[in-house]
Amino acid sequence: MKKSTGMLVTATAATFALAGFSAGALAQSFEAAKDLVEQNNCKQCHGIKKDKDGPSFLKTAERLRGKAGAEAEIVTHLTSGKKIKLADGTTEDHKIIKTMPPKDMAQIKNVAQYILSIQP
Ligand code: HEC
Repeated sequence: MKKSTGMLVTATAATFALAGFSAGALAQSFEAAKDLVEQNNCKQCHGIKKDKDGPSFLKTAERLRGKAGAEAEIVTHLTSGKKIKLADGTTEDHKIIKTMPPKDMAQIKNVAQYILSIQP
């Protein structure tokens, strides 16, 4: 009995490995994205589900999920510093996300994928 449970776990892990992820690595990478979002104070202007000065991440996910170029569109938003308008009518450059090391595309894409993964 013990042995067959072990085999089942191994088979499941193998399935995830074939999909290119381990379940643990996927969860961990979204944890890293959440940390970056916290460190960059993104939530000052974006609720996960609530609009603030910027749209909620859920709204962005629902607008872009499944669309070609979704990840690239978010990455551009996080790296180009385009002009944004705040609720009080002032304009400023959108925050350029800080990573360690700087401009680490893998981490920035991971944040984009995390935003796209947000569910209601
Ligand atoms: C000072 C407030 C502010 C901060 C801080 C901020 N944003 Fe924004 N963000 C905005 C506003 C306002 C918009 C809408 C701009 C527009 O549509 O022209 C926006 C747009 C976006 C968009 C595009 C949304 C869409 O649906 O088109 C994404 C993605 C985004 N922000 C992510 C982030 C992330 C991640 C961070 C942290 C690195 C961050 N923002 C920090 C205000 C902010």
